[in-house]
Amino acid sequence: MNTLGSPLPLPSAPLALESLWMPFTHNRLFKKNPRIVVAGEGMHYTTQDGRQILDGLSGLWCCNAGHRHPLIVEAVKQQLDQLDYAPPFQTQHDRAFELATALAKIAPDGLDHVFFTNSGSEAVDTALKIALAYHRARGDASRFRLIGRARGYHGVGFGGISVGGMVANRKAFASAMLPGVDHLPHTHDLSQMAFSRGMPTWGGHLAEELEKLVQLHDASTIAAVIVEPMQGSAGVIVPPLGYLERLREICTRHGILLIFDEVITGFGRLGNFFAAERFGVTPDIITFAKGVNSGMVPLGGAIVRREIHEAFMTGPEHLVEFFHGYTYSGHPLACAAGLAALKVYADEGLLARARALEPVLEDLIHSLRDEPNVIDVRNLGLAAAVELAPRAGEVSKRAMEIFHYCFDHGAMVRYVGDIIAIGPALIATESELEQIVALIRAGIRRVA
Ligand SMILES: Cc1ncc(COP(=O)(O)O)c(C=O)c1O
Repeated sequence: MNTLGSPLPLPSAPLALESLWMPFTHNRLFKKNPRIVVAGEGMHYTTQDGRQILDGLSGLWCCNAGHRHPLIVEAVKQQLDQLDYAPPFQTQHDRAFELATALAKIAPDGLDHVFFTNSGSEAVDTALKIALAYHRARGDASRFRLIGRARGYHGVGFGGISVGGMVANRKAFASAMLPGVDHLPHTHDLSQMAFSRGMPTWGGHLAEELEKLVQLHDASTIAAVIVEPMQGSAGVIVPPLGYLERLREICTRHGILLIFDEVITGFGRLGNFFAAERFGVTPDIITFAKGVNSGMVPLGGAIVRREIHEAFMTGPEHLVEFFHGYTYSGHPLACAAGLAALKVYADEGLLARARALEPVLEDLIHSLRDEPNVIDVRNLGLAAAVELAPRAGEVSKRAMEIFHYCFDHGAMVRYVGDIIAIGPALIATESELEQIVALIRAGIRRVA
């Protein structure tokens, strides 16, 4: 039995693996040596063969309160007993209003209207559409350009991959990118910032590249700039000191909306509800997902400045103001989980806990700097990464083998390219952080 009182599943017959086409996975290799999880609780998964795996990644940067937090589970169960579903178009259920109100309260001042989606990808596409439609509603339809950043990850919708900057996610769809998109350079330069603890001191000036794009295209054609305040999926690329402030100044000066994609950085990952608060920089739109309900039920959304929302609220009242939405925008189960998760984060002091654990994780992860093939170690909040030199002709294989080693020996980490990334839940103990880093160290030593 686990602490929630339900029996652990019995080992089942071998699974049929063929029909499932797994996302972002090397399907053929995976199916030769599958990693199958059947249960989760707190900081651990149980595998199909009964092993405990320490989760170093909060699911996929989402289970910030740990797996199956009892209060969130209970809230979802209660919601299911009361209301399964109600259409969000021209009708609405109470939980969606309650969660929007709760999110508006914790969002930075002035951002107080929430549009729900089911995922981070949809949150991004929604935010981009809001930005374009906002300028149009104000009679400024010439602002059609969107600016993203190299190595940015904004999900997998056509909007998200267009403003995103991860080549592998874009190249097969090059013909279908949104028009009028440009990119800032990324801020990751190991010759200047390797082994930075927290925010690198070099690189703030790179925000001036936005000024160059404004000069090239003219501000009157640019609708919005979208960045992750800290790039998570590209392998924990921490913003240089002063960088986000400068982006904000340039956007404000030119009437360009600034969107922070906080799908990873929100809900305690950097020690605050939003990274905007940690960095002291307020965007015009925040996109969120993942940690909003500790990954329990798919949910995402965009939180917008009051003036943006107001710009839509004109014209005859019987007309729809924004032709956009999803069948499951703000699903009752997702919202119930969100309300419970926000309460858990607050009542259990999890944001303070993340702040207290940050220096512990920083020391632990930087203790890897002299291990073989390590070319960078970086961290912020409860996110950290170790970058390895790629093997000649085998990019990403070294990190993949370390990932396999860690899983086989009891810890879940993430690899992207030749980077090992971790993002433990806010409930982690110091000893669990030590165990995760010890396994990464052993993996780095074992994998030549
Ligand atoms: C910053 C950012 N935006 C968007 C997404 C996409 O979210 P989803 O996978 O829920 O569509 C992610 C996912 O990791 C992300 O990190």
